[in-house]
Amino acid sequence: MSDSRFGIGLVGAGFISRDAHAPSVDYLSDVHIAGIQNRTRENAVDLAETCREHGRGDPSVYGAGELAELAHDPEVDGIWIATPNFTRTETVDTLVDAVESGATLQGIALEKPIARTLPEARHLIDRIESVDLPHAYLENWIHEPDIKDLRSLLWQRGRDAGRPYLARSQAEHGGPHSGWFWDGQKQGGGALTDMLCHSLGGNDYLLRDPEAEGQLEPVSVTADTETLKWARESYAEELQERYGVDYEEHPSEDYARVTVRYEDAAGNPVVSEATGSWCFVGSGVSRHIELLGPEYSGQVRSDDDSSSVFFSDALGDGDGWAEKQTATSGRMPIAAATVVTGGFVAENRDAIRAFSAGENATFDLFDGERILRLCMAAYKAAEDGTRVELADASLDSYTPPPAR
Ligand SMILES: NC(=O)c1ccc[n+]([C@@H]2O[C@H](COP(=O)([O-])OP(=O)(O)OC[C@H]3O[C@@H](n4cnc5c(N)ncnc54)[C@H](OP(=O)(O)O)[C@@H]3O)[C@@H](O)[C@H]2O)c1
Repeated sequence: MSDSRFGIGLVGAGFISRDAHAPSVDYLSDVHIAGIQNRTRENAVDLAETCREHGRGDPSVYGAGELAELAHDPEVDGIWIATPNFTRTETVDTLVDAVESGATLQGIALEKPIARTLPEARHLIDRIESVDLPHAYLENWIHEPDIKDLRSLLWQRGRDAGRPYLARSQAEHGGPHSGWFWDGQKQGGGALTDMLCHSLGGNDYLLRDPEAEGQLEPVSVTADTETLKWARESYAEELQERYGVDYEEHPSEDYARVTVRYEDAAGNPVVSEATGSWCFVGSGVSRHIELLGPEYSGQVRSDDDSSSVFFSDALGDGDGWAEKQTATSGRMPIAAATVVTGGFVAENRDAIRAFSAGENATFDLFDGERILRLCMAAYKAAEDGTRVELADASLDSYTPPPAR
């Protein structure tokens, strides 16, 4: 560390780097964007310029094949990996090689999902652990202020009546914004790995006792996956035209429903219900998150009832501004400070605090692997049409159908 501030090195200059990680610095003291590495150098140059304009740092720019240089940059203290899922292994291998040859990083943070398969996840973890580098799994839901409060209020005030027994999360939008998400082999799956990894991670967090580690075991998983919208001829043509993917021939699921049955320390059943899709047409991203117990319930919602504005078609010429907004007229969410309300500031604060103390973040890569195991069990349950018992399931060599 050559100055006293914590320097973030971003790998990737796409949506999540641009709209979440770079702006999160506005709310973090003594943190700056110190470097950006990206396949297309010009996109990193553009993001670096935006960082300078907003006082988020004066990042050095690295292009294709210059990841090791980012890791060796003396201003960079921690690396945030925000590139597509299929690039995780080579990215982590390069970073760990750099550490082995003298790069002085304090930690590596990795976007959801951790990887495409369990062997990939295990490889990343083994390599990062082999150089004793602290790590973070970037699952923003568990850092969202409303979700954190829902958990602490219900657990604290409801404890006398008994632990929560049901968490429900639904997360939907109109479909991802880059071609690689729609390619099952590159992404690792479809809406299940992309959206339900949030819902399953969020439910798991809500159902775990904040005051007692390891008191909840996932036991079995049932699931359905479907391709409801995007393999239809006209929509598949749209994807072909926009992203060059053949979704009619090689679809992934654009809808999934997963139920995880857990048992608590006393053997009582506890249930996580997660649904998600890429088929939602409406205002921005729609999410319903609920936690229920014997004498209480609570919910977090972002949907058409949330803060919004309305524009008539006469004004409908222009760009939307909210994540996954699919129209430029009609009702649109007011998306003020989503880096705060969406948990990105808190997740980065948590990772930086942990890395500076030489520790893993609240959610680390072991948590990422745990959530991916639930995703794999869900794909297998949907594929075989059976309930997957986690104790018997051989998921370590399993690849979901869209990723084969
Ligand atoms: N927590 C959340 O809510 C959330 C939301 C969105 C995404 N994510 C996660 O963040 C990660 C990135 O998603 P995104 O939405 O930012 O993706 P994106 O907008 O498609 O951006 C991808 C970035 O990676 C680069 N890239 C593309 N293909 C590459 C390759 N073959 N090798 C190296 N770099 C490549 C792109 O470079 P170019 O500039 O050259 O195109 C771009 O900078 C994903 O793992 C995703 O699941 C999380």
